[in-house]
Amino acid sequence: MLFFQRLRRLYILAITLLFCIIFIQIIPYFGPGLSISRPSSCQLPVTPPHISSSHTSNCPLLSASHPQADSSHTKLASALSPAELLCRSPKPLPGGIPKLLHQSWKSTELPAKFKKWSNTCRRQHPDWEWVLWTDEDNLQLVKQYFPWLEDTFSSLPGNIYRADLARSLYMYIFGGVYADLDTECLRPTLDALASQNISLPGQPNESSGDEASVARVALLGRMGSDPAFDHSIPNAWMAASAGHPFFLLPMSSAQAEIQKSRRILHSWWYDYPSAEQLTGPIALLKNVKQYEFCGDAANKIIVLPDSMVYPFNWNTKENVRSLCSAEKETFNETLCKDVLEVDLKGSISITYWSHTHRGKGADVENIERISQDG
Ligand SMILES: *[C@@H]1O[C@H](CO)[C@@H](O)[C@H](O)[C@H]1NC(C)=O
Ligand SMILES: *[C@@H]1O[C@H](CO)[C@@H](O)[C@H](O)[C@H]1NC(C)=O
Ligand SMILES: *[C@@H]1O[C@H](CO)[C@@H](O)[C@H](O)[C@H]1NC(C)=O
Repeated sequence: MLFFQRLRRLYILAITLLFCIIFIQIIPYFGPGLSISRPSSCQLPVTPPHISSSHTSNCPLLSASHPQADSSHTKLASALSPAELLCRSPKPLPGGIPKLLHQSWKSTELPAKFKKWSNTCRRQHPDWEWVLWTDEDNLQLVKQYFPWLEDTFSSLPGNIYRADLARSLYMYIFGGVYADLDTECLRPTLDALASQNISLPGQPNESSGDEASVARVALLGRMGSDPAFDHSIPNAWMAASAGHPFFLLPMSSAQAEIQKSRRILHSWWYDYPSAEQLTGPIALLKNVKQYEFCGDAANKIIVLPDSMVYPFNWNTKENVRSLCSAEKETFNETLCKDVLEVDLKGSISITYWSHTHRGKGADVENIERISQDG
C-alpha cells in the first residue's frame, strides 16, 4: 500500500515538474508581435552604444568636398558614402534634425524608379547630405557602434529584417531623415514642419556645453485614421535628432524576440515572427506605445498626421490604390497626387508602397516593375 502511495506521489511530482518546464518555456510569452497593448512595466533599454574613437585611425584622409555623381541642372543633396560617414566622429548632440538624408538598398545600383524618387528627395534638400546604405554597410554600422547587437542582427532571418532594424541605428547614431526609396519628397522637410507649426527643438548651444538641457525629438508619421490599425505607424519615413533614446527600443525588442525564438518549445509553439512583427511597422507601433508610457518627457516622439507623411494609405479604397500603388498596372503618380490633394494638404512626402519584399526574401516581380523607366 505504502509503495503505491509513494509511486503516486512520484508520479504527481513528475507531472508537476513537466508542467513547470513547459510553463517556463512558453507560457510567459504571448506570441511576438501579436499584442499591441501597453506594457505593464517600463523596461526602457539602457545599454549604450559602443562609441569607439579608435575606428577613425583606419579612415583615409577625407576630402573636404563631396563630388556630386548626379550633378544635373537642379542641385541635389550631395552624396556621402557610408564609409565616409562612419569615419566621422559621432557628435550625438541633442537638438534639431541634422541635414542628413538616409536611404537604403541591397546595393548601390538603384532601380530606375527608386533613382527618380530618390532624386526628388535630394532635390528638395539641396543643402543636405545623402547617404545610401547597402546591406554590407548596415553590418559595418552595427559592428562599429552596436557590438552587443551583432548577434541579433546576424540571426535575423532575412535582409528586410536587417534593413528595418538598421533605420533605428541611423536615427540613433546620426539623426536626420530616413525615407524608403519608393517615397517621393514633395517639399523640404524642415519648411513643411514649420508651416504646420510643428516646432523642433533648437540646435544645441555648443558654447554653453549644456547638452542635457536641450531636448531631442523623433518624428514618425501616421497612416490612415485608425490608430489601432497595427500598420498605422509605418517605418518608411522617420526623422530625428541624433541620440534620441526611443531608437534603442526597436533594437532591444528585436534582441529579446530573437532570444525567445531560440527556446526550443517556443519555436515549436509559435510561428517565427514576420518582418512586420519583429522589426517593421507592427513592432514600431508597439515601441511607440511603450515609449509613450515609459519614455522621458524631454525627448518627445511626435506622430505627424496622415496628411503629412503618408497621404496614400495602402489600406484604402481600390480606386485610390489603383492610381497610387506602385504595384498596380494602372499606377499614375500625377493622377494619384491630384486625387489625394497633396499640395493642398502640405504633405512632406508620399510613399507609393512598391513592396519589394515578400516574406523573408525579395519580391522579384515588384522589383522588376520599379526597374522600368517612367
Ligand atoms: C500656424 O500658426 C500661424 C500663426 O499662429 C497661423 O496663422 C496658422 O494658421 C497656423 N497654421 C497651421 C497649419 O495650423
Ligand atoms: C549660449 O550659451 C552662452 C553661455 O551660456 C550664452 O551666453 C548664449 O547667450 C547662449 N546662446 C543662445 C543662442 O542661447
Ligand atoms: C497619367 O495620367 C495623365 C492624365 O490622364 C496622363 O497624361 C499621363 O500620361 C499618365 N502618366 C502615365 C505614366 O501613365
